[in-house]
Amino acid sequence: MIEKRSWRAGFYHKTGYSINCGIIWPMYVLGIETSCDETAAAVVKDGHIIVSNVISSQIDIHARFGGIVPEVASRQHLLSIIPVVDHALKQASVTLGGIDVLAVTHGPGLSGSLLVGLNTAKAISFSHGIPLIGINHLEAHIYANWLSLKSPSFPLLCLIVSGGHTDLVLMKEHSEYDLLGSTRDDAAGEAFDKAARILGLGYPGGPAVDTAAESGQPNLDLPRAWMKGTYDFSFSGLKTALLRIKQSGQIVDVNDAAASFRQAVVDVLVHKITDAARKYEVNQIVLSGGVAANRLLRNEITRRSNVAVAIPPPFLCTDNAAMVAACGYYRARRNKFHGLDLDVKPALRMA
Ligand code: KG4
Ligand code: ZN
Repeated sequence: MIEKRSWRAGFYHKTGYSINCGIIWPMYVLGIETSCDETAAAVVKDGHIIVSNVISSQIDIHARFGGIVPEVASRQHLLSIIPVVDHALKQASVTLGGIDVLAVTHGPGLSGSLLVGLNTAKAISFSHGIPLIGINHLEAHIYANWLSLKSPSFPLLCLIVSGGHTDLVLMKEHSEYDLLGSTRDDAAGEAFDKAARILGLGYPGGPAVDTAAESGQPNLDLPRAWMKGTYDFSFSGLKTALLRIKQSGQIVDVNDAAASFRQAVVDVLVHKITDAARKYEVNQIVLSGGVAANRLLRNEITRRSNVAVAIPPPFLCTDNAAMVAACGYYRARRNKFHGLDLDVKPALRMA
């Protein structure tokens, strides 16, 4: 078991551990994530070593409805949050007394779901005197790339591609972001989910389209929205084109249709990010978010980029709390703590 430490407002004292310029080493961060349909908790050491990582997925519950039902999601978080946090601490062989910082997602996401994670974190923070940090879920996705032995090198370009967002971000330093472009309509993950529904591939749609596409040929003529002169994206026209083709009975093989759709999304994502990487002369490209688990996207970006590419393993691309803890570590090193008046921000943006 990791030993207990005491904490006083704005000042750390940790028995048996070294304190260097206000930085605790080693530092154990407990991350909590409940922004959507995964209840997750994780313990991360020094910002990059995953000591435990527990995820309770609600996929089976929402599959019946063909998508996430917000009220059902928040009720399920309520049932799962305490067991999930307990499990993460046990898996890490640590008690709350051994946790130095508590990092919790406070936006963006479903308000009812965010409230469960945030209020749990506040209660733990208050009762155990553990400093609290609210984390932007999108920023946490980027920090999944720090959960490895080799940290990414700045300046870097990050593509956040999830169910709710498609953002291209220039990151010059920790916590320094320039938003270069975003989707103007559907996010890439949302487009994959809608395509799966059109093709009858079930829920969750992204992995289903990806798997079907592996056995198909991209032989359908689908449009690409290049949004010339910008780093913005648009995927709703592509989804509508797929729907029209389906309604006109032109789809002979569903795997070919899935492969064509996946190719169209990936072509645009890879073109934009490689173009921006050249323009901004970055050292590295990093991918993050659920769609970064997509097999074609992973292969194509690696093949077509002139600079190093980092992509988290698929289990760290989708929602998890290890990425929240990793982000919390870099915030803590800059003394960016929050008070107990921290609130949820369902519409929080990247920059
Ligand atoms: O990051 P994430 O787990 O949750 C959000 O923050 O939104 O992303 C979930 C999204 C869903 O839309 C899901 O269909 C998509 O990521 N996704 C994929 C794949 N795995 C997950 N999309 C395409 N290919 C995949 N392999
Ligand atoms: Zn996410």
